[in-house]
Amino acid sequence: MEDHHQPVHIAIIMDGNGRWASDRGLPRVQGHERGAESVREVTRDCARRGLGHLTLYAFSSENWRRPREETEMLMGLLEHYLVSERKEIMENQVQFSGIGRLNELPERVQKELNKTTEMSRSNTGLHLRLALNYGSRGEIRDAVVRLARQLSEGKLQEDDVTEESVRDFLYDPGMPDPDLLIRTAGEYRLSNFLLWQASYAEIWVTPTLWPDFGKEDLDEAIRAYSSRERRYGGIAPRSSP
Ligand code: FPP
Repeated sequence: MEDHHQPVHIAIIMDGNGRWASDRGLPRVQGHERGAESVREVTRDCARRGLGHLTLYAFSSENWRRPREETEMLMGLLEHYLVSERKEIMENQVQFSGIGRLNELPERVQKELNKTTEMSRSNTGLHLRLALNYGSRGEIRDAVVRLARQLSEGKLQEDDVTEESVRDFLYDPGMPDPDLLIRTAGEYRLSNFLLWQASYAEIWVTPTLWPDFGKEDLDEAIRAYSSRERRYGGIAPRSSP
């Protein structure tokens, strides 16, 4: 049965910048720079399609294990992006924010992050979230600690703790669950991304490396999503009696 629903929230695990560069005998930095261009193209396209939410996994809490040279370069690129894309963000009415342990990012990145977030707060279009220094187990751990504190202080009763109220303790309670989760560069892993939120997400994996990912790939992913049927653990409605 064809069901032409559109996703409201798309989340993307952007992978393959390094492979894109090494395939061309280029330094990894150039892969990340091209990756930043894909971020711009995909965000622009999502804003124009009228998508509600786009969440991009830009830097995981595990990415600190990379050589210092590379993490510093990624932080520098991020800082640059946060300044250079402000105009585009404002023109496209994008509401920008970050999720993750943002207070552990370098001061300079935090400063630009806060500025872009504040500036775009009352925009009315696409919500673009960058997952930065983000790890889903860390997010759930942080939520559990805050929830436990409220229980022990008597501000919350055990019966009040529901699956919906757990969401209030996640980094961004206003973020709906992703409908479609895309991973580039062919790996079938969640890599500690949105484990709570992606419980019912449709997953689409493409061999395309992130720097090569564009509008057409997004179209293909959305078409595949629209033709799938989501049952949320139930059974499919019968098309004829
Ligand atoms: C994966 O490539 C990608 C990342 C480490 C994060 C994504 C970063 C960008 C798109 C660049 C800058 C982002 C912004 C928002 C300006 P990889 O290095 O893991 O690739 P590999 O697995 O092929 O080595």
